[in-house]
Amino acid sequence: GDSGSDATETATEAATTESVVPSNVVIGSDIPYRPFEYETTSGELTGFDVDIAAAIFEEQLGVSYEFKPTSFDSIIPSLNNNNFRIIMSAMTINDQRAEQVDFSDPYFTAYQTVIVRADSEISSKEDLRGNPVGVQKGTTGAGAAEELKSEFDGELDIKSYDQINGAFQALINGQVNAVINDNTVNAGFANDRDDVVFLEGEGVAAESDQEAPPYLTLTIENYGIAFRQDDDEFRERVNEALAAIREDGTYDEIYSEYFSG
Ligand code: ARG
Repeated sequence: GDSGSDATETATEAATTESVVPSNVVIGSDIPYRPFEYETTSGELTGFDVDIAAAIFEEQLGVSYEFKPTSFDSIIPSLNNNNFRIIMSAMTINDQRAEQVDFSDPYFTAYQTVIVRADSEISSKEDLRGNPVGVQKGTTGAGAAEELKSEFDGELDIKSYDQINGAFQALINGQVNAVINDNTVNAGFANDRDDVVFLEGEGVAAESDQEAPPYLTLTIENYGIAFRQDDDEFRERVNEALAAIREDGTYDEIYSEYFSG
């Protein structure tokens, strides 16, 4: 019956909740990376990551969120310098990054793929030898290009761009003859035009249990939301929210909005 101590307890609880889940979640992201984060023609931010953020933060956790445009190449140091609370940027979970950040549970599967001009003479992975290929700086696409370069004993000319659209533009202009990048983002670019196509061939996906995409796959990757390494409680709350939206069908609804058959 001591109401004074009850009040103290409630206040402490509120303060703890406030620090674990911020009232506005600031999200670092490299934009545009369509269909994950990009602006519509009317200038509205949209995309798979944006809708997933809305579902997790607004619907599940009852807080607001805001995307903060950030260079992908410096996005991890930027997170660790407290420029935002988390990263949602179609970011692949890998060991190297896991030394600097903690990831949520995986929320999307992706593959590194190669696109070329439709009139290109490149029609297999081996044909890439000696060619200029475009990648976005700091990405797993850049990593896959480095792998390929060592497979070709150094015979690959990797050109890095700050944003993926720079690499896409370079492909159209003929400054590079291929772009190595995440499959659905390559598809978002290539499917809109008839002068760009995927390089075909059996890739790593064909050897896995997962249903293989109909083009060459250099890697299989999973996206995660990145947190600072001292943010375990918030990360857990986000993982619970992610599980909840998978459970209640929200995730599938968002998925089919961007990736319908
Ligand atoms: N999945 C790739 C990676 O993690 C590319 C991500 C690029 N994301 C972006 N929003 N530009 O390296």
